[in-house]
Amino acid sequence: MNYRHSFHAGNFADVVKHAVLARILAHLALKPTPFRVIDTHAGAGLYDLTARDAERTGEWREGIARLDEGPLSPGAEAVLAPFRAALEALAPVAPGKTRKTYPGSPAFIRHALRETDSASLNELHPETFKALTEAMPHDGRLTLNKLDGYLAWKAQVPPSERRGLVLVDPPFEQPDEFARMAAGLKAMARKWPTGIAMLWYPIKDRRGVADFEAAALDSGFAKLSVIELHVDAHDAEGPLAASGLMIANPPWTLNDEMAALLPDLAERLARGPVARWRVEALLEG
Ligand SMILES: C[S@@+](CC[C@H](N)C(=O)[O-])C[C@H]1O[C@@H](n2cnc3c(N)ncnc32)[C@H](O)[C@@H]1O
Repeated sequence: MNYRHSFHAGNFADVVKHAVLARILAHLALKPTPFRVIDTHAGAGLYDLTARDAERTGEWREGIARLDEGPLSPGAEAVLAPFRAALEALAPVAPGKTRKTYPGSPAFIRHALRETDSASLNELHPETFKALTEAMPHDGRLTLNKLDGYLAWKAQVPPSERRGLVLVDPPFEQPDEFARMAAGLKAMARKWPTGIAMLWYPIKDRRGVADFEAAALDSGFAKLSVIELHVDAHDAEGPLAASGLMIANPPWTLNDEMAALLPDLAERLARGPVARWRVEALLEG
């Protein structure tokens, strides 16, 4: 377990992931009945962009810093609104100043919870877990577990609320990460076929991604969508250039919302001439 998200916090992949997360959470909050969010690989909760790790890679400068430069088109901003509002509350930037912090998924999740909603935040790395407990103190709606994310996924679904989301955002340090995600998705389809699942993955190994898509199609979920952003060619030199999200049971408006946001986001976050995006309903139920 060498992965530290502090090197990558606020990069283009975090921006897309958290923009989609904020939209799904806003969708869940449309109904008054409570929901639960299970974050299998939670990370630290809040990242200091002035610290050595973030400074060393500077990935956030080609991610969230580009969104800090100003608004996208009105249509794209309408979709980005829950993400922008959460950012403003969790990690505001003083006028004329540079961003100093960027929130992690637990902070976006906590921000979206109402009094009766709840979240389970799972993180295995001892130091990162300590940082998470410090970033998320004294909140009865949250349960923090120093647990393996895949075990947590298995053990914590279905939640008693029967409404909610599982976010699976592993470090992709191990060669079997796609296989573990596919197995987890299949198990969830049996136990909680109406739950929303959101699985993040890097796009480097195209064969691995294609096999994962095939496995997801075979998982048992009736509705599946894929959302991708490529800021450069997937095999370009340098940091990660493309990432994807596999969404089971996406809210019915999500694909159209992302199709309105991603062209602008691709243009703003492009690192090379081949920036592109993809939103596709793989299964429509
Ligand atoms: C990509 S980061 C998560 C980022 C976070 N979801 C966010 O959006 O802000 C992956 C995290 O998983 C943790 N991790 C690694 N192996 C794990 C495991 N088996 N179970 C749970 N967490 C794990 C790492 O320490 C790291 O903090």
